[in-house]
Amino acid sequence: MSLLEVSNLTHSFIDKTLYHQASFALYKGEHMGIVGQNGAGKYSDFLRQKEHLRQDYIRQYYAQQKKIEKTEEYIRKNIAGVNSKIAQGRRKQLERMERIAAPTFTHKPIMSFKELPLTVHEALEVTNLEIGYNDALLPPLNFIVAGGQKLVITGFNGIGKSTLLKTLVKHISAFSGTFQFAEQVKIGYFEQDLSWEDNMNTPIQIMSEHYPKLGVKEIRQQLARCGVKSTHTTQAIGTLSGGEQSKVKLCKLLLSPCNFLILDEPTNHLDAETKEALQKALIQFQGSILLVSHEAKFYQQWADQLLNIEDLM
Ligand SMILES: Nc1ncnc2c1ncn2[C@@H]1O[C@H](COP(=O)(O)OP(=O)(O)OP(=O)(O)O)[C@@H](O)[C@H]1O
Ligand SMILES: [Mg+2]
Repeated sequence: MSLLEVSNLTHSFIDKTLYHQASFALYKGEHMGIVGQNGAGKYSDFLRQKEHLRQDYIRQYYAQQKKIEKTEEYIRKNIAGVNSKIAQGRRKQLERMERIAAPTFTHKPIMSFKELPLTVHEALEVTNLEIGYNDALLPPLNFIVAGGQKLVITGFNGIGKSTLLKTLVKHISAFSGTFQFAEQVKIGYFEQDLSWEDNMNTPIQIMSEHYPKLGVKEIRQQLARCGVKSTHTTQAIGTLSGGEQSKVKLCKLLLSPCNFLILDEPTNHLDAETKEALQKALIQFQGSILLVSHEAKFYQQWADQLLNIEDLM
């Protein structure tokens, strides 16, 4: 359903309030149906219109801020003097003014891992490894991940992919068999579950605890690079969407120096833009990667090898 006709959106045509609401809603990224005059607007036209409205909104916001500052200064200087009556009138005007909400700045996420060198031939060797909780979930596993190799693991839900990764990062112990990482390997792990030590901590607190040397400004910049909205950086992590929580988790991982990534379905909650940024970062990454994913589109462009553990059963 179309909520707003953008094709005829001009100052003279459209009432100012609606214009404000329209530009505000679009700028906030809310979903609105947009049609051209014949009802068949193109997406590229929509993006252009959206950008135009966004720029206009920002201009209006700053113009209003300037006016507020000037008026406040006038009031400060004159409230006790001969022009007190005028100053009081201006104060009333200010109070009644409908304030334009501050724009929230969103940028396209840009990601890159803090990468350590990996010069070994074999980064991981898995030998007759049995994984599971009460019983072994799979037949013994045997595979090698070469230095710089990008291996993707697939298989149906519940087969044991996460259990395998948790075993490799030693969160749980192996049933039998062995696995050995090269000495040079430094793992960067992205867990599938979204769990936090304290759901009340904010993304800034979480990052500060992990990286105490980073200042708040730097943390905000890093979170923004991962696509976390600035308004979310000071909200309790437990109240944020799965997508925003995943971005915070990614941000933590990106800053941790490593050369072997173990990623368990990192794209599960991500929007298209963030997925693209992560995909680019993984293409650039020179170390080894062990990725569990159900999204062929995400990895088929760069994966060196696929291991479908269903084939082992
Ligand atoms: N802590 C646990 N204790 C006992 N059994 C568990 C535990 N965690 C998972 N399981 C079981 O182990 C099996 C494998 O689970 P796992 O999470 O490794 O599967 P998965 O392949 O990662 O699935 P998905 O694609 O849904 O993420 C499942 O049957 C699951 O119910
Ligand atoms: Mg899993």
